Amino acid sequence: MQVAINVADSSHEKYAQAVCNMIEGAAINRGTGIAKRKPEYIREKIHKGNAVIALNGDEVVGFCYIESWEGQKFVANSGLIVHPEYRKTGLAKKIKSKIFMLSVKKFPDARLFGITTSLAVMKINSALGYQPVTFSELTADETFWKGCKSCSNYDILKRTGQKMCLCTGMVCNIPARKKKGTVSWEQFKKFLKTHGNHFPLMNSLYPKISKILNK
Ligand SMILES: CC(C)(COP(=O)(O)OP(=O)(O)OC[C@H]1O[C@@H](n2cnc3c(N)ncnc32)[C@H](O)[C@@H]1OP(=O)(O)O)[C@@H](O)C(=O)NCCC(=O)NCCS
Repeated sequence: MQVAINVADSSHEKYAQAVCNMIEGAAINRGTGIAKRKPEYIREKIHKGNAVIALNGDEVVGFCYIESWEGQKFVANSGLIVHPEYRKTGLAKKIKSKIFMLSVKKFPDARLFGITTSLAVMKINSALGYQPVTFSELTADETFWKGCKSCSNYDILKRTGQKMCLCTGMVCNIPARKKKGTVSWEQFKKFLKTHGNHFPLMNSLYPKISKILNK
């Protein structure tokens, strides 16, 4: 398998429909999953350099994009999808690592978060330093929660007044805290030295993160 994983640029806009088809197919299969997206929305993400695409030749086999809310205070890496024939090969892990780095670079002050019912995503997020939280720790921006409307479990979210649903909320605020002064780089390095084996992906990305944020 020769898969190339890159930050998407305008030459990749032609894959927007294929990405939407993959997302829709996965949602139908699981009965839940990623909020439905229109090709124009995906195209815009690609155009703005806010997406990562995995290609095997001319076939799109994986995708993920960045969304931001509340004036870029909150950022999520959304729409993670891997073509069914390419799953369980570590592809999602690579895509998430790439989009994680892109997010840190473009939104160094943001709190990175996500919601998911997927065990695979929970594993990847945990390796990146995300921790489970209640929905109170996530963005309150209505446009984010509107994205859940196309999920088959939306009635639960509505019934609980947006306090809980089947998804687990996860937050990674380790890099973001640096600029807010809550965690200094020295503290962060010490933290990784002691606990880094619990966050293997974060640990391996640390030299790059450090370079970006210390510029
Ligand atoms: C979720 C998804 C992106 C995972 O992609 P993938 O390329 O198969 O994932 P990886 O191979 O990188 O695996 C990452 C980890 O998850 C585990 N994993 C993968 N699929 C799994 C599954 N179905 N059940 C449990 N664990 C799984 C892997 O074993 C690996 O764990 P490890 O770190 O302990 O080795 C893919 O299954 C998919 O596209 N699903 C449909 C869309 C979806 O649910 N997206 C997430 C919305 S939040």
